Amino acid sequence: ALAVLAPKDLLGKRIVITAGGTREPLDPVRFIGNRSSGKQGVALALAASARGADVTLIGANLEVHAPDAVHVEHVSTTLELRDAVAGAAASADIVIMAAAVADYRPEAVAEGKIKKETQGDTLQLTLVKNPDILHGLAEARQPGQVLVGFAAETESDRDALLALGRAKILRKGADVLVLNTVGWTEGFATDGNTVVVINAAGDIVGEAAGTKASVANSILDTLV
Ligand code: CTP
Ligand code: CA
Repeated sequence: ALAVLAPKDLLGKRIVITAGGTREPLDPVRFIGNRSSGKQGVALALAASARGADVTLIGANLEVHAPDAVHVEHVSTTLELRDAVAGAAASADIVIMAAAVADYRPEAVAEGKIKKETQGDTLQLTLVKNPDILHGLAEARQPGQVLVGFAAETESDRDALLALGRAKILRKGADVLVLNTVGWTEGFATDGNTVVVINAAGDIVGEAAGTKASVANSILDTLV
């Protein structure tokens, strides 16, 4: 029913959406990851598709079913995500980086399972910084391409959250930043979301609260 009622205001637009959270392996059985489920990104893909867009969803360890209606590529690590995004973004009108990207990865991945017997009472990991995918897209962007970032912050004070967002959108070179507050019980793997959307000038250009589906449509309204 939603697909029938949706305005086709994204008809002909090519949109790349990343969703989920990247994982960085330590050894064949363990990883460093984050709590992103992929729900908001998948909701965006569904909503954009219903509104007529040609959607490529790049899913990093999705905990929800990827919609059949969109082209889906599955990845796990940040470097895999970067490569998939680079391939898909070249011809995209809009790239929405909803995925939670691991900022660091283990410097070395053990060939076999790390054993307690060969470690002491503490285990030290050396992590190296991952490339900033969104920043890389901004540096390589085609004229007219719209780049959208997401920033999940633990800051719950609205003005402080906006200040973080304004600094972040400038640092990233993105056009639009979707900001929300996350915490131990908020934001991840839940069915609802509350967001504030800003542009590169730091102006608030959208606000939404509700189900991840309704928030997805509000974000798309702002982009349209
Ligand atoms: N992002 C990215 N590549 C990274 C890290 C983040 O493309 N290596 C993207 C995310 O997908 C998101 C946006 O950048 O759309 C903001 O992510 P965030 O983690 O909030 O920004 P960081 O620059 O990593 O800052 P922080 O230190 O707050 O984590
Ligand atoms: Ca980060």
